[in-house]
Amino acid sequence: MVGKNQAESRVSGGHPPSTGPAQIVAVVNQKGGVGKTTTAINLASTLALEGRRVLLLDLDPQGNASSGLGIRVDSGEQSIYSALIGLKDLDEIVVATGVENLVLGPSNLDLAGAELEMVSMLNRERQLDRALSSLDESFDIILIDCAPSLGLLTINALVAARHLLIPVQCEYYALEGLSRLMESIERVRSNFNELEILGVLLTMFDTRTKLSADVAAQIRTYFGDKVFRTVIPRSIRLSEAPSYGEPIELYDRMSAGAVAYRFLAQEFLQRCLPARLGTANSTTLLSGANQP
Ligand SMILES: Nc1ncnc2c1ncn2[C@@H]1O[C@H](COP(=O)(O)OP(=O)(O)OP(=O)(O)O)[C@@H](O)[C@H]1O
Ligand SMILES: [Mg+2]
Repeated sequence: MVGKNQAESRVSGGHPPSTGPAQIVAVVNQKGGVGKTTTAINLASTLALEGRRVLLLDLDPQGNASSGLGIRVDSGEQSIYSALIGLKDLDEIVVATGVENLVLGPSNLDLAGAELEMVSMLNRERQLDRALSSLDESFDIILIDCAPSLGLLTINALVAARHLLIPVQCEYYALEGLSRLMESIERVRSNFNELEILGVLLTMFDTRTKLSADVAAQIRTYFGDKVFRTVIPRSIRLSEAPSYGEPIELYDRMSAGAVAYRFLAQEFLQRCLPARLGTANSTTLLSGANQP
């Protein structure tokens, strides 16, 4: 676990050079509580523990991705807010985590102010993109944990990213609001970049309920093969891990949730890094696994 003072240990380099530009993936769904942060933390950690160099950006003023990794940055300290509004370079605000190869761009409530301050900026939708382009550190994968809104912060994530990962909770109204997300994606596509949906992830699946199975079937009908084969089960261990400041791989790597995120990491790599890095070693990645 990483203490509060970890924020002081700024990342100072030492990674081997990257083999190409990082894959930038935003974890997005404006609906609250669907598993965005749980997915961002655990996917980032699992990929990092497999040897990928990963940067996780906490783009939510709630700061859950930061606290879930045991990192708290007090208001006024360097956070992703400073990088977004151009006070600091991203290199200066990122911090090491307790997970090898995983670096965090931490956030706190200050970030809520950035949304307001950016409104009057030129190229206000491109501030994260600009901040990322100044990054000296090299990463294989950059994951962005978005807030539950389609405001300017999330638009910045969509503009900076190449791919989207959309967690959808296996509950009533799962599809509600997704058409608005699709409209935002289209708008970003026509004005900024070639954003693509990497995958839709079914989360908090409860094998005991017909509802979960029905919702999963409905989402697969709607999104077809965009839906990841991996399904994240509802798991108490997953919900406990953040209060220990640990990803599930460190908290309980034999739990069903850890196994599921290892499967997701493999599918993720197959979808976004097929040519450049190859897929991870499936023996290590999937040890203890019996998912699909
Ligand atoms: N697979 C799971 N099993 C059990 N609990 C889960 C699971 N995934 C997430 N949770 C719990 O559900 C709650 C919401 O999850 P999470 O914070 O990841 O969602 P979110 O989409 O990031 O929320 P927000 O929109 O507020 O940012 C948390 O308490 C989390 O611990
Ligand atoms: Mg969240």
